[in-house]
Amino acid sequence: GILKEWKGKTANVFSTISSTKEYQPTLLGTVPDLGENEALEALHAAEKAYDRGQGLWPTMKVADRIAAMEKFVSQMKTKREEIVKLLMWEIGKTLPDSQKEFDRTVEYIYDTIEDYKKMDRTSAKFEKNAGVYAHIRRGPLGVVLCLGPYNYPLNETFALLIPALIMGNTAIFKPAKHGVLLLSPLLEAFRNSFPAGVVNIIYGRGRTLATPIMETGKVDVLALIGNSKSANAIQGNHPNKNRLRLVLGLEAKNPAIVLPDADLDLAISECIVGTTSFNGQRCTALKVVYVHEDIVAEFNKRFAAKVDALKFGNPWENGVQLTPLPEPEKPAYIQELIDDATKKGAKIINENGGKTTENYIFPAVLYPVSKNMRVFEEEQFGPVIPVLSFSDIQEPLNDMAESNYGQQVSVFGSDVKTLAPLIDTLVNLVCRVNLNSSCQRGPDVYPFTGRKDSAVATLSVYDALRSFSIRTFVASKDS
Ligand code: G3H
Repeated sequence: GILKEWKGKTANVFSTISSTKEYQPTLLGTVPDLGENEALEALHAAEKAYDRGQGLWPTMKVADRIAAMEKFVSQMKTKREEIVKLLMWEIGKTLPDSQKEFDRTVEYIYDTIEDYKKMDRTSAKFEKNAGVYAHIRRGPLGVVLCLGPYNYPLNETFALLIPALIMGNTAIFKPAKHGVLLLSPLLEAFRNSFPAGVVNIIYGRGRTLATPIMETGKVDVLALIGNSKSANAIQGNHPNKNRLRLVLGLEAKNPAIVLPDADLDLAISECIVGTTSFNGQRCTALKVVYVHEDIVAEFNKRFAAKVDALKFGNPWENGVQLTPLPEPEKPAYIQELIDDATKKGAKIINENGGKTTENYIFPAVLYPVSKNMRVFEEEQFGPVIPVLSFSDIQEPLNDMAESNYGQQVSVFGSDVKTLAPLIDTLVNLVCRVNLNSSCQRGPDVYPFTGRKDSAVATLSVYDALRSFSIRTFVASKDS
Protein backbone atom coordinates (compact mmCIF):
# COMPACT_ATOMS: atom_id res chain seq x y z
CA GLY A 1 0.00 0.00 0.00
CA ILE A 2 2.50 2.57 1.22
CA LEU A 3 4.98 1.88 -1.57
CA LYS A 4 2.62 2.56 -4.43
CA GLU A 5 2.48 6.28 -3.82
CA TRP A 6 5.81 6.60 -2.04
CA LYS A 7 7.20 10.12 -2.35
CA GLY A 8 9.42 10.14 0.72
CA LYS A 9 13.09 9.35 1.31
CA THR A 10 14.68 6.73 -0.91
CA ALA A 11 17.86 4.66 -0.71
CA ASN A 12 20.13 3.87 -3.64
CA VAL A 13 20.75 0.25 -4.53
CA PHE A 14 24.21 -0.36 -5.97
CA SER A 15 25.53 -3.39 -7.80
CA THR A 16 28.05 -5.84 -6.40
CA ILE A 17 29.53 -5.97 -9.85
CA SER A 18 31.76 -3.24 -11.12
CA SER A 19 31.11 -2.06 -14.65
CA THR A 20 34.59 -0.62 -14.99
CA LYS A 21 38.06 -2.03 -14.39
CA GLU A 22 38.43 0.21 -11.33
CA TYR A 23 35.97 -0.83 -8.73
CA GLN A 24 32.95 1.36 -9.28
CA PRO A 25 29.56 -0.10 -8.41
CA THR A 26 26.73 0.76 -10.77
CA LEU A 27 23.60 2.41 -9.45
CA LEU A 28 20.86 -0.12 -10.15
CA GLY A 29 17.86 1.72 -8.78
CA THR A 30 16.24 3.04 -5.64
CA VAL A 31 13.89 1.69 -2.99
CA PRO A 32 11.94 3.57 -0.33
CA ASP A 33 13.87 4.25 2.86
CA LEU A 34 11.07 3.92 5.38
CA GLY A 35 10.94 5.13 8.95
CA GLU A 36 9.14 4.14 12.14
CA ASN A 37 5.76 5.57 11.10
CA GLU A 38 5.65 3.61 7.87
CA ALA A 39 6.78 0.45 9.67
CA LEU A 40 3.88 0.82 12.08
CA GLU A 41 1.54 1.55 9.21
CA ALA A 42 2.57 -1.77 7.61
CA LEU A 43 2.02 -3.56 10.92
CA HIS A 44 -1.46 -2.05 11.28
CA ALA A 45 -2.30 -3.11 7.73
CA ALA A 46 -1.25 -6.70 8.55
CA GLU A 47 -3.22 -6.62 11.81
CA LYS A 48 -6.28 -5.24 10.07
CA ALA A 49 -6.14 -7.93 7.37
CA TYR A 50 -5.80 -10.62 10.04
CA ASP A 51 -8.44 -8.93 12.21
CA ARG A 52 -7.78 -11.13 15.24
CA GLY A 53 -8.43 -14.27 13.19
CA GLN A 54 -11.68 -12.95 11.71
CA GLY A 55 -10.31 -11.24 8.59
CA LEU A 56 -11.03 -12.20 5.01
CA TRP A 57 -7.66 -13.99 4.59
CA PRO A 58 -7.52 -16.19 7.73
CA THR A 59 -11.17 -17.22 7.28
CA MET A 60 -10.96 -17.70 3.51
CA LYS A 61 -11.81 -21.14 2.09
CA VAL A 62 -8.74 -23.30 1.51
CA ALA A 63 -9.47 -23.49 -2.22
CA ASP A 64 -9.58 -19.70 -2.49
CA ARG A 65 -6.30 -19.25 -0.65
CA ILE A 66 -4.75 -21.81 -2.98
CA ALA A 67 -6.16 -19.94 -5.98
CA ALA A 68 -4.54 -16.71 -4.72
CA MET A 69 -1.19 -18.46 -4.34
CA GLU A 70 -1.49 -20.05 -7.80
CA LYS A 71 -2.24 -16.66 -9.31
CA PHE A 72 0.83 -15.23 -7.60
CA VAL A 73 3.19 -17.96 -8.77
CA SER A 74 1.97 -17.84 -12.35
CA GLN A 75 2.60 -14.07 -12.47
CA MET A 76 5.95 -14.54 -10.75
CA LYS A 77 7.07 -16.96 -13.47
CA THR A 78 6.86 -14.18 -16.07
CA LYS A 79 9.53 -12.22 -14.14
CA ARG A 80 12.25 -14.90 -14.30
CA GLU A 81 14.65 -13.10 -16.59
CA GLU A 82 14.44 -9.80 -14.73
CA ILE A 83 14.90 -11.38 -11.30
CA VAL A 84 17.79 -13.62 -12.42
CA LYS A 85 19.54 -10.54 -13.81
CA LEU A 86 19.04 -8.67 -10.56
CA LEU A 87 20.34 -11.63 -8.52
CA MET A 88 23.55 -11.49 -10.54
CA TRP A 89 23.98 -7.72 -10.30
CA GLU A 90 22.85 -7.22 -6.74
CA ILE A 91 24.51 -10.11 -4.94
CA GLY A 92 26.97 -11.45 -7.50
CA LYS A 93 25.46 -14.95 -7.76
CA THR A 94 26.50 -16.88 -10.88
CA LEU A 95 24.00 -17.24 -13.73
CA PRO A 96 23.34 -20.97 -13.17
CA ASP A 97 22.94 -20.43 -9.41
CA SER A 98 20.67 -17.42 -9.94
CA GLN A 99 18.49 -19.44 -12.32
CA LYS A 100 18.48 -22.27 -9.80
CA GLU A 101 17.42 -19.91 -7.03
CA PHE A 102 14.49 -18.67 -9.10
CA ASP A 103 13.37 -22.10 -10.32
CA ARG A 104 13.75 -23.66 -6.91
CA THR A 105 11.53 -20.94 -5.44
CA VAL A 106 8.80 -21.57 -7.99
CA GLU A 107 9.04 -25.30 -7.25
CA TYR A 108 8.91 -24.57 -3.51
CA ILE A 109 5.65 -22.66 -3.98
CA TYR A 110 4.07 -25.46 -6.04
CA ASP A 111 5.20 -28.08 -3.51
CA THR A 112 3.77 -25.95 -0.72
CA ILE A 113 0.43 -25.77 -2.49
CA GLU A 114 0.41 -29.56 -2.96
CA ASP A 115 1.31 -30.27 0.67
CA TYR A 116 -1.23 -27.75 1.86
CA LYS A 117 -3.92 -29.56 -0.15
CA LYS A 118 -2.90 -32.86 1.48
CA MET A 119 -2.94 -31.29 4.92
CA ASP A 120 -6.37 -29.72 4.49
CA ARG A 121 -8.97 -31.48 6.66
CA THR A 122 -11.75 -28.93 6.55
CA SER A 123 -14.13 -31.37 4.88
CA ALA A 124 -12.93 -34.46 6.82
CA LYS A 125 -15.34 -36.36 9.05
CA PHE A 126 -15.26 -36.33 12.86
CA GLU A 127 -13.17 -39.23 14.14
CA LYS A 128 -13.72 -41.04 17.40
CA ASN A 129 -10.74 -41.29 19.73
CA ALA A 130 -10.71 -42.12 23.47
CA GLY A 131 -14.52 -41.86 23.50
CA VAL A 132 -14.66 -38.38 21.95
CA TYR A 133 -15.42 -37.40 18.36
CA ALA A 134 -13.02 -34.81 17.09
CA HIS A 135 -12.30 -32.83 14.00
CA ILE A 136 -8.65 -31.82 14.03
CA ARG A 137 -7.39 -29.07 11.74
CA ARG A 138 -4.65 -26.49 11.50
CA GLY A 139 -5.07 -22.77 11.79
CA PRO A 140 -2.95 -19.64 11.41
CA LEU A 141 -1.01 -17.96 14.21
CA GLY A 142 -1.51 -14.29 13.36
CA VAL A 143 0.85 -11.58 12.18
CA VAL A 144 4.29 -12.71 11.02
CA LEU A 145 7.34 -10.45 10.84
CA CYS A 146 9.56 -11.99 8.24
CA LEU A 147 13.22 -11.08 7.60
CA GLY A 148 15.23 -12.72 4.85
CA PRO A 149 18.98 -13.07 4.21
CA TYR A 150 21.11 -11.52 1.44
CA ASN A 151 22.57 -14.79 0.16
CA TYR A 152 19.18 -16.22 -0.89
CA PRO A 153 17.15 -13.03 -1.07
CA LEU A 154 14.38 -14.67 -3.08
CA ASN A 155 14.45 -18.32 -2.12
CA GLU A 156 14.94 -18.18 1.62
CA THR A 157 12.71 -15.16 2.10
CA PHE A 158 9.99 -17.04 0.28
CA ALA A 159 10.68 -20.23 2.23
CA LEU A 160 9.37 -18.21 5.20
CA LEU A 161 6.77 -16.04 3.55
CA ILE A 162 4.94 -18.56 1.36
CA PRO A 163 4.08 -21.17 4.01
CA ALA A 164 3.19 -18.37 6.45
CA LEU A 165 0.74 -16.87 3.96
CA ILE A 166 -0.90 -20.05 2.73
CA MET A 167 -1.67 -21.06 6.31
CA GLY A 168 -3.75 -17.87 6.66
CA ASN A 169 -1.30 -15.63 8.48
CA THR A 170 -0.65 -12.08 7.35
CA ALA A 171 2.90 -10.79 7.01
CA ILE A 172 5.21 -7.84 7.06
CA PHE A 173 8.47 -8.64 5.38
CA LYS A 174 11.74 -6.80 5.14
CA PRO A 175 14.40 -7.83 2.65
CA ALA A 176 18.05 -7.92 3.72
CA LYS A 177 20.47 -5.07 3.01
CA HIS A 178 21.59 -6.63 -0.29
CA GLY A 179 19.23 -8.30 -2.75
CA VAL A 180 16.45 -5.77 -2.33
CA LEU A 181 15.61 -4.54 -5.79
CA LEU A 182 14.89 -8.01 -7.11
CA LEU A 183 11.62 -8.00 -5.17
CA SER A 184 10.31 -4.99 -7.08
CA PRO A 185 9.20 -7.00 -10.14
CA LEU A 186 6.96 -8.99 -7.80
CA LEU A 187 5.13 -6.12 -6.12
CA GLU A 188 2.42 -6.07 -8.72
CA ALA A 189 1.92 -9.85 -8.50
CA PHE A 190 1.52 -9.51 -4.72
CA ARG A 191 -0.99 -6.71 -5.20
CA ASN A 192 -2.96 -8.64 -7.83
CA SER A 193 -3.08 -11.91 -5.91
CA PHE A 194 -3.64 -11.18 -2.22
CA PRO A 195 -6.20 -9.03 -0.40
CA ALA A 196 -4.97 -5.66 0.89
CA GLY A 197 -2.81 -5.87 4.00
CA VAL A 198 -1.99 -9.59 3.70
CA VAL A 199 1.57 -8.99 2.45
CA ASN A 200 3.39 -5.81 3.42
CA ILE A 201 6.91 -5.17 2.20
CA ILE A 202 8.98 -2.68 4.13
CA TYR A 203 12.33 -1.32 2.98
CA GLY A 204 14.88 0.28 5.22
CA ARG A 205 17.17 -0.39 8.16
CA GLY A 206 16.35 -3.40 10.27
CA ARG A 207 16.74 -1.64 13.58
CA THR A 208 14.66 1.37 12.54
CA LEU A 209 11.81 -0.77 11.26
CA ALA A 210 11.78 -3.99 13.30
CA THR A 211 12.22 -2.38 16.72
CA PRO A 212 9.01 -0.29 16.79
CA ILE A 213 7.05 -3.15 15.21
CA MET A 214 8.17 -5.62 17.87
CA GLU A 215 7.72 -3.14 20.73
CA THR A 216 3.97 -3.03 20.06
CA GLY A 217 3.74 -6.69 21.12
CA LYS A 218 1.47 -7.30 18.12
CA VAL A 219 3.77 -9.70 16.26
CA ASP A 220 2.80 -13.33 16.76
CA VAL A 221 5.65 -14.97 14.84
CA LEU A 222 9.20 -13.79 14.21
CA ALA A 223 10.48 -15.57 11.12
CA LEU A 224 14.11 -14.81 10.36
CA ILE A 225 16.95 -16.30 8.42
CA GLY A 226 20.18 -14.59 9.37
CA ASN A 227 22.37 -14.37 12.44
CA SER A 228 21.55 -15.01 16.08
CA LYS A 229 22.73 -11.56 17.15
CA SER A 230 19.96 -9.93 15.07
CA ALA A 231 17.44 -12.61 16.06
CA ASN A 232 18.16 -12.04 19.76
CA ALA A 233 18.03 -8.26 19.44
CA ILE A 234 14.76 -8.29 17.51
CA GLN A 235 12.92 -10.78 19.72
CA GLY A 236 14.22 -8.89 22.79
CA ASN A 237 12.01 -5.95 21.80
CA HIS A 238 8.80 -7.96 22.19
CA PRO A 239 7.19 -7.11 25.54
CA ASN A 240 5.74 -10.59 26.07
CA LYS A 241 8.00 -13.34 24.79
CA ASN A 242 5.61 -16.11 25.76
CA ARG A 243 3.31 -14.87 23.01
CA LEU A 244 6.00 -14.87 20.37
CA ARG A 245 6.63 -17.91 18.17
CA LEU A 246 10.03 -18.23 16.54
CA VAL A 247 10.98 -19.68 13.17
CA LEU A 248 14.70 -19.08 12.83
CA GLY A 249 17.45 -20.26 10.49
CA LEU A 250 20.75 -19.10 11.96
CA GLU A 251 24.51 -19.68 11.80
CA ALA A 252 26.33 -22.94 11.25
CA LYS A 253 29.90 -24.14 11.19
CA ASN A 254 29.42 -27.38 9.27
CA PRO A 255 32.51 -29.60 9.34
CA ALA A 256 33.79 -32.04 6.75
CA ILE A 257 35.48 -35.12 8.22
CA VAL A 258 37.75 -36.98 5.82
CA LEU A 259 38.55 -40.48 7.09
CA PRO A 260 41.76 -42.34 6.07
CA ASP A 261 39.90 -44.71 3.73
CA ALA A 262 38.00 -41.95 1.91
CA ASP A 263 37.90 -41.76 -1.87
CA LEU A 264 40.18 -38.73 -2.03
CA ASP A 265 39.08 -37.48 -5.46
CA LEU A 266 35.47 -37.50 -4.35
CA ALA A 267 36.23 -35.95 -0.96
CA ILE A 268 38.25 -33.15 -2.58
CA SER A 269 35.69 -32.29 -5.24
CA GLU A 270 32.85 -32.28 -2.69
CA CYS A 271 34.90 -30.15 -0.28
CA ILE A 272 35.55 -27.68 -3.11
CA VAL A 273 31.81 -27.33 -3.76
CA GLY A 274 31.05 -27.21 -0.04
CA THR A 275 33.61 -24.55 0.85
CA THR A 276 33.60 -22.30 -2.22
CA SER A 277 30.19 -22.26 -3.89
CA PHE A 278 28.78 -18.75 -3.76
CA ASN A 279 32.14 -17.81 -2.21
CA GLY A 280 31.30 -19.69 1.00
CA GLN A 281 28.33 -17.40 1.69
CA ARG A 282 25.91 -20.20 2.55
CA CYS A 283 24.79 -21.24 6.01
CA THR A 284 25.26 -24.81 4.79
CA ALA A 285 28.81 -24.22 3.50
CA LEU A 286 31.59 -26.44 4.84
CA LYS A 287 33.33 -24.05 7.21
CA VAL A 288 35.99 -26.31 8.70
CA VAL A 289 37.69 -29.36 7.17
CA TYR A 290 39.12 -32.18 9.32
CA VAL A 291 41.44 -34.57 7.50
CA HIS A 292 43.00 -37.71 9.00
CA GLU A 293 46.74 -37.24 9.61
CA ASP A 294 47.66 -40.19 7.34
CA ILE A 295 46.26 -38.45 4.26
CA VAL A 296 46.40 -34.76 5.14
CA ALA A 297 49.56 -33.99 3.12
CA GLU A 298 48.12 -35.51 -0.06
CA PHE A 299 44.69 -33.93 0.57
CA ASN A 300 46.19 -30.47 1.08
CA LYS A 301 48.35 -30.64 -2.05
CA ARG A 302 45.46 -31.63 -4.32
CA PHE A 303 42.83 -29.52 -2.59
CA ALA A 304 44.96 -26.34 -2.70
CA ALA A 305 45.67 -26.84 -6.43
CA LYS A 306 41.95 -27.28 -7.15
CA VAL A 307 41.04 -24.15 -5.22
CA ASP A 308 43.65 -22.19 -7.17
CA ALA A 309 42.17 -23.44 -10.44
CA LEU A 310 38.73 -21.95 -9.68
CA LYS A 311 37.71 -19.25 -12.11
CA PHE A 312 36.89 -15.75 -10.87
CA GLY A 313 34.76 -13.39 -12.94
CA ASN A 314 31.41 -11.74 -13.48
CA PRO A 315 28.40 -13.92 -12.66
CA TRP A 316 27.15 -14.24 -16.24
CA GLU A 317 30.51 -15.41 -17.67
CA ASN A 318 30.77 -19.03 -18.71
CA GLY A 319 32.29 -21.39 -16.17
CA VAL A 320 32.79 -18.74 -13.47
CA GLN A 321 32.83 -20.17 -9.94
CA LEU A 322 33.99 -17.24 -7.82
CA THR A 323 32.40 -13.81 -7.97
CA PRO A 324 32.57 -10.39 -6.28
CA LEU A 325 31.26 -10.14 -2.73
CA PRO A 326 28.13 -8.07 -2.03
CA GLU A 327 29.22 -6.94 1.44
CA PRO A 328 31.94 -4.28 0.99
CA GLU A 329 33.30 -5.00 4.48
CA LYS A 330 33.72 -8.77 3.85
CA PRO A 331 37.25 -8.83 2.31
CA ALA A 332 38.67 -6.90 5.30
CA TYR A 333 36.97 -9.30 7.73
CA ILE A 334 38.31 -12.36 5.92
CA GLN A 335 41.75 -10.74 5.92
CA GLU A 336 41.49 -10.31 9.71
CA LEU A 337 40.78 -14.03 10.09
CA ILE A 338 43.72 -14.90 7.86
CA ASP A 339 46.07 -12.55 9.75
CA ASP A 340 44.98 -13.93 13.11
CA ALA A 341 45.50 -17.52 11.94
CA THR A 342 48.88 -16.91 10.32
CA LYS A 343 50.08 -15.03 13.40
CA LYS A 344 49.19 -18.10 15.46
CA GLY A 345 51.01 -20.59 13.23
CA ALA A 346 48.80 -21.45 10.22
CA LYS A 347 49.99 -21.00 6.64
CA ILE A 348 48.12 -20.12 3.46
CA ILE A 349 48.77 -23.27 1.44
CA ASN A 350 47.39 -22.21 -1.94
CA GLU A 351 49.25 -19.79 -4.16
CA ASN A 352 46.32 -17.46 -4.89
CA GLY A 353 44.92 -17.56 -1.37
CA GLY A 354 44.14 -14.13 0.05
CA LYS A 355 44.83 -12.15 -3.14
CA THR A 356 42.46 -9.20 -3.14
CA THR A 357 40.77 -6.62 -5.30
CA GLU A 358 38.34 -4.01 -3.94
CA ASN A 359 35.34 -6.26 -3.44
CA TYR A 360 36.91 -9.67 -3.65
CA ILE A 361 39.37 -11.92 -1.88
CA PHE A 362 40.54 -15.23 -3.34
CA PRO A 363 39.74 -18.23 -1.08
CA ALA A 364 42.62 -18.91 1.26
CA VAL A 365 43.22 -22.47 2.45
CA LEU A 366 44.74 -22.33 5.94
CA TYR A 367 46.71 -25.18 7.53
CA PRO A 368 47.33 -26.24 10.26
CA VAL A 369 44.44 -24.51 12.00
CA SER A 370 44.11 -24.77 15.77
CA LYS A 371 41.38 -24.03 18.24
CA ASN A 372 42.80 -20.74 19.47
CA MET A 373 42.29 -19.16 16.04
CA ARG A 374 39.28 -17.01 15.23
CA VAL A 375 38.70 -18.85 11.95
CA PHE A 376 38.11 -22.04 13.94
CA GLU A 377 35.46 -20.40 16.12
CA GLU A 378 33.69 -17.83 13.95
CA GLU A 379 31.27 -18.47 11.09
CA GLN A 380 33.38 -16.93 8.32
CA PHE A 381 30.56 -16.87 5.71
CA GLY A 382 33.11 -16.12 3.02
CA PRO A 383 36.21 -17.33 1.17
CA VAL A 384 38.56 -18.75 3.79
CA ILE A 385 38.96 -22.49 4.43
CA PRO A 386 40.41 -23.78 7.70
CA VAL A 387 41.93 -27.28 7.54
CA LEU A 388 42.83 -29.33 10.64
CA SER A 389 44.34 -32.79 10.89
CA PHE A 390 43.21 -35.40 13.42
CA SER A 391 44.52 -38.76 14.58
CA ASP A 392 41.47 -39.96 16.53
CA ILE A 393 37.87 -39.46 15.33
CA GLN A 394 37.00 -38.43 18.87
CA GLU A 395 38.80 -35.09 18.23
CA PRO A 396 36.34 -33.72 15.62
CA LEU A 397 33.45 -35.33 17.52
CA ASN A 398 34.42 -33.48 20.72
CA ASP A 399 34.71 -30.21 18.79
CA MET A 400 31.26 -30.72 17.31
CA ALA A 401 29.80 -31.55 20.71
CA GLU A 402 31.30 -28.36 22.17
CA SER A 403 30.37 -26.15 19.22
CA ASN A 404 27.55 -23.60 19.54
CA TYR A 405 26.19 -24.86 16.25
CA GLY A 406 24.60 -28.09 15.07
CA GLN A 407 23.29 -27.96 11.54
CA GLN A 408 25.04 -30.56 9.31
CA VAL A 409 28.21 -32.56 8.78
CA SER A 410 29.86 -34.20 5.77
CA VAL A 411 31.71 -37.44 6.37
CA PHE A 412 33.96 -39.08 3.79
CA GLY A 413 34.91 -42.74 4.15
CA SER A 414 34.28 -46.14 2.59
CA ASP A 415 34.26 -48.70 5.39
CA VAL A 416 30.65 -49.34 6.40
CA LYS A 417 31.76 -50.90 9.71
CA THR A 418 33.43 -47.60 10.71
CA LEU A 419 30.75 -45.38 9.25
CA ALA A 420 27.68 -47.03 10.81
CA PRO A 421 28.50 -46.35 14.49
CA LEU A 422 29.92 -42.94 13.57
CA ILE A 423 26.63 -41.96 11.93
CA ASP A 424 24.75 -43.00 15.07
CA THR A 425 26.79 -40.45 17.03
CA LEU A 426 26.76 -37.71 14.38
CA VAL A 427 22.96 -37.63 14.14
CA ASN A 428 22.91 -36.67 17.82
CA LEU A 429 25.22 -33.72 17.17
CA VAL A 430 23.67 -32.24 14.02
CA CYS A 431 20.44 -32.59 12.05
CA ARG A 432 21.75 -33.90 8.73
CA VAL A 433 24.66 -36.23 8.05
CA ASN A 434 25.90 -36.16 4.44
CA LEU A 435 27.73 -39.30 3.41
CA ASN A 436 30.48 -38.71 0.87
CA SER A 437 28.83 -35.48 -0.20
CA SER A 438 28.96 -31.83 0.79
CA CYS A 439 26.34 -30.19 3.00
CA GLN A 440 23.29 -28.55 1.49
CA ARG A 441 19.74 -27.51 2.29
CA GLY A 442 17.89 -29.16 -0.59
CA PRO A 443 15.94 -30.92 -1.84
CA ASP A 444 13.41 -28.80 0.04
CA VAL A 445 11.21 -31.76 0.90
CA TYR A 446 13.79 -32.86 3.52
CA PRO A 447 13.75 -31.25 6.95
CA PHE A 448 16.00 -28.22 7.14
CA THR A 449 16.86 -27.31 10.70
CA GLY A 450 19.67 -27.32 13.27
CA ARG A 451 20.52 -27.91 16.89
CA LYS A 452 21.74 -25.35 19.46
CA ASP A 453 22.27 -21.85 17.98
CA SER A 454 21.71 -23.01 14.39
CA ALA A 455 17.92 -22.98 14.18
CA VAL A 456 14.54 -22.84 15.84
CA ALA A 457 11.74 -24.80 14.08
CA THR A 458 12.05 -26.62 10.76
CA LEU A 459 11.88 -25.34 7.20
CA SER A 460 11.15 -28.03 4.69
CA VAL A 461 8.02 -27.64 2.61
CA TYR A 462 6.15 -30.08 4.87
CA ASP A 463 7.51 -28.77 8.18
CA ALA A 464 7.24 -25.07 7.38
CA LEU A 465 3.47 -25.40 6.97
CA ARG A 466 3.43 -26.80 10.49
CA SER A 467 5.88 -24.22 11.85
CA PHE A 468 3.53 -21.41 10.78
CA SER A 469 0.32 -22.94 12.13
CA ILE A 470 -1.26 -24.50 15.18
CA ARG A 471 -3.35 -27.64 15.61
CA THR A 472 -6.89 -26.90 16.73
CA PHE A 473 -9.90 -29.18 17.01
CA VAL A 474 -13.62 -29.35 17.49
CA ALA A 475 -14.74 -31.99 20.00
CA SER A 476 -18.20 -33.51 20.15
CA LYS A 477 -20.01 -36.33 21.88
CA ASP A 478 -21.59 -37.40 18.56
CA SER A 479 -20.12 -37.76 15.10
O1 G3H B 1 22.49 -20.00 3.58
C1 G3H B 1 21.87 -21.01 3.87
C2 G3H B 1 21.09 -21.71 2.83
O2 G3H B 1 20.06 -22.40 3.47
C3 G3H B 1 21.94 -22.63 2.01
O3 G3H B 1 21.17 -23.32 1.10
O4 G3H B 1 22.54 -25.38 0.77
O5 G3H B 1 20.78 -24.77 -0.84
O6 G3H B 1 22.86 -23.43 -0.72
P1 G3H B 1 21.87 -24.27 0.02
